[in-house]
Amino acid sequence: MPQDQASSSIESVLHEDRHFPPPAGFAAQAHVGSMEQYEALHQRSLNDPEGFWAEEAERHHWFKPWEKVVEWDAPDAKWFVGGTTNLCYNAVDKQVADGFGSQTAIIWEAEPIDADGTPQVLHLTYSDLMRETAKFANVLKGQGVKKGDVVTIYMGMVPELAIAVLACARIGAPHSVIFGGFSAQAIKDRVEDGRSNIIITCDGSWRRGSVVPLKDNVDEACKQTDLVDTVIVVKRCENDTAWTEGRDAWYHDLMATATDDCPCEELDSEDLAFILYTSGSTGKPKGIMHTTGGYMVWTAMTSRLTFDLQPDEDDVYWCTADIGWITGHSYILYGILPNRVPTIMYEGGPNYPGADRFWDMVARHKVTKFYTAPTAIRAFMKWGDEHPRKHDLSSLKVLGTVGEPINPEAWMWYHKVIGHENCPIVDTWWQTETGGHMLTPLPGATTTTPGSCCRPMIGVDAAVVNSDGEPVGTNEGGILVIRKPWPGMLRGIYGDRDRYIDTYWSRFQDKGYYVPADGARVDDNGNFWIMGRIDDVIVVAGHNIGTMEVESAIVSHEATAEAAVVGYPHDVKGNALAAFIILKGDLPTPGSEEDLALKKNIRDHCGKELGPICKPDQVRFTEALPKTRSGKIMRRLLRDIAAGNEITQDVTTLEDKSIVEKLQASG
Ligand code: PRX
Repeated sequence: MPQDQASSSIESVLHEDRHFPPPAGFAAQAHVGSMEQYEALHQRSLNDPEGFWAEEAERHHWFKPWEKVVEWDAPDAKWFVGGTTNLCYNAVDKQVADGFGSQTAIIWEAEPIDADGTPQVLHLTYSDLMRETAKFANVLKGQGVKKGDVVTIYMGMVPELAIAVLACARIGAPHSVIFGGFSAQAIKDRVEDGRSNIIITCDGSWRRGSVVPLKDNVDEACKQTDLVDTVIVVKRCENDTAWTEGRDAWYHDLMATATDDCPCEELDSEDLAFILYTSGSTGKPKGIMHTTGGYMVWTAMTSRLTFDLQPDEDDVYWCTADIGWITGHSYILYGILPNRVPTIMYEGGPNYPGADRFWDMVARHKVTKFYTAPTAIRAFMKWGDEHPRKHDLSSLKVLGTVGEPINPEAWMWYHKVIGHENCPIVDTWWQTETGGHMLTPLPGATTTTPGSCCRPMIGVDAAVVNSDGEPVGTNEGGILVIRKPWPGMLRGIYGDRDRYIDTYWSRFQDKGYYVPADGARVDDNGNFWIMGRIDDVIVVAGHNIGTMEVESAIVSHEATAEAAVVGYPHDVKGNALAAFIILKGDLPTPGSEEDLALKKNIRDHCGKELGPICKPDQVRFTEALPKTRSGKIMRRLLRDIAAGNEITQDVTTLEDKSIVEKLQASG
């Protein structure tokens, strides 16, 4: 749908009146323990950004203090102008300098389990991490890497990945991490876009008991570009790999002779820290740029507040994302390490060797703060309650979710079965571009509601506006905007200034609003509800319908596990809705009485929950949904299937390619 159609009001029909205040005991010891305290902090951060952010920045080490907190000339922001600092220093060396070198920084767990059933676990202290990053920084320098050179990292979730990322930060070489599930083509595209001539990889990585041949993919990518002259390989799976003499080197060989004397480089606050590619709805991936000082202060503060991190209270934090995504950058490494709480890095799949792997890990490591994605939560629901019930989850205190809207049913399951009705849930809305949390409950302050990401983070001026940029009324849908700069905001798209302006700023250029391209509404309690991407809003017979709400209604039906709703052209209504649904039980025989009855039942259920206009015209049962490797549903593909069109979209990023044919047959 063209963006403009989304600007008129989106009708919101989903009603939710379950509310969950923070547990009193939790609120009493939290960093932010009441709504009054939140409001006061939020107000201050917007009214006096200079004073507020200076105090936050003072928690960190600066080689040279900043002269000015922020310079804003929309769409260009500079934070902590004139200051010099280092992300690796603040994540690692500072803890050692402060006397905490022997504390655990990273708890790493391998996917394979030893023959006797023992999991392989490694604890890296801050001192270990400082030594290893310094050594690897020297290795990089030895390979000719200088400040400002883009280093490509394509690895599994092994400790060397964290070491490589931090080593880049140590010497001021921006990293470009590529998720290990991507193909050779994706590596080639990113290497070329970033003009990077060095790749750090592994021979292979473990995923559900098999080896993903990472190095082979790098070799394949290098055949398609002549930019890369150095490939450093971590030996992880001992799988066979081809070797290019003069270009390839083993990590362990280079580390064997490296010294650990490598002080952190003094970097300007606005020096490029990293590039991270995110897919656009059209065209090639965008290389999102984040810089040093603002990103550091932003990720550390949001980590502390959203997860209520308490370094001296036995907190153990686990974010299940991959470091190849922004969630892993900000909330496994950069935001968590400066808060001095152990961060878990898990190598493999959530259902290996059994569907209870995560819960077994939560119990063994006594995880207190747990952060995952709705797509994972829905999978856990489908696998059955018996898996979490087998384990002692009583250490858990805060549960987080990120990546897409969480259906209220999934939220309630997370709350009951994982949180035992005792853990605040933080539904964090943000983006690769925002660097960190933008809308989220704070666990000691916010009364949560299933499906809502609640309030703006401290420092965030969020609003929902119409196409003229004017705020819309309560419960009226519109365009989410951010009206003021924040320290962790992107600084651009690498090498594409026009696209940066066009994508995020052109819509309300005169006002200087950042446009994330999500639709939202604010309810009468002041809570934000994300209604999906602006282009996921469908006009059916003149009504604007957010696909997200229809999906939530479908998933609240007892027979369904997951749903994706898209629009397709319809002669009478303009557009009609098609629902692709995964059932909890077996698929009924297509066309059978059972099949037709269940489809009718689900349509009626939507009609009852949301109104007749929201009944999908097409209901298709499917075993799986087409997802990208980051778990996002490929809606464009579903739209083509619903419309009966030829598939024109590139499906190379699909996790399971056979699914397209199955879906086409499901109609
Ligand atoms: O549409 C929103 C959705 O994911 C988009 C950002 O995707 P990405 O850059 O890959 O970052 C994912 C990790 C931060 C957003 O524009 N999204 C993310 N979190 C939520 C969400 N939608 C609803 N609720 C969320 N909590």
